[in-house]
Amino acid sequence: MRLRFSINILDYRFFQVSNEITKGLIKMDKVSVIYGSTTGNTESAAEKIAAAFGVKPIAIASASQEDFKADLLILGVSTWGFGDLQDDWESNIAKLEGADLSGVKAAIFGEGDQSAFSDTYCNAMATLAEAVSKCGAKLIGRTSAEGYNFSASTAEDNGSFCGLALDENNQPELTDERISAWVSQLKSE
Ligand SMILES: Cc1cc2nc3c(=O)[nH]c(=O)nc-3n(C[C@H](O)[C@H](O)[C@H](O)COP(=O)(O)O)c2cc1C
Repeated sequence: MRLRFSINILDYRFFQVSNEITKGLIKMDKVSVIYGSTTGNTESAAEKIAAAFGVKPIAIASASQEDFKADLLILGVSTWGFGDLQDDWESNIAKLEGADLSGVKAAIFGEGDQSAFSDTYCNAMATLAEAVSKCGAKLIGRTSAEGYNFSASTAEDNGSFCGLALDENNQPELTDERISAWVSQLKSE
């Protein structure tokens, strides 16, 4: 009798735990990571970020409107020219601008060069942040601009970036820890 009672309690605990896990999965059931990259730096960051969410990253050039329909939409972009969007983003921006992102959480990451392009560091992040906000998404994942050395960036406001700024040219050794901290932040926001 006593043994049976303990087994029932164990069954109940198991049910509670699996229920919590299921609820957690449902809460964030679709994550999309969409990126544009010219020399592979943003692509490599996208792969690491996507892997942390158990998904594969999608290049903007081959992304469909469906790929933008997610609970959490993570967009990666490098900055080219002087503060411009990376080429694939530039020619496919209509895919994003046409999306209805109400109820979607969006987060932006970017690659740039804070030394050679100190006046336009990661500006393209701001362009995407503005575009997703216009589509109705809630922007999450701001990060501190401490530890960077640049003169100006439209992605920075009051000491923080609109997302995660990376710099493979000058601070490659910080990329993995920055990504890992950002992923934890996104999972809790
Ligand atoms: C011609 C040229 C223009 C660039 N313009 C900028 C810029 O305006 N701002 C910036 O932060 N980085 C700029 N960069 C640096 C790139 O964004 C950086 O190398 C980045 O890591 C490239 O990422 P990707 O390989 O994913 O395209 C420029 C690089 C080149 C070669």
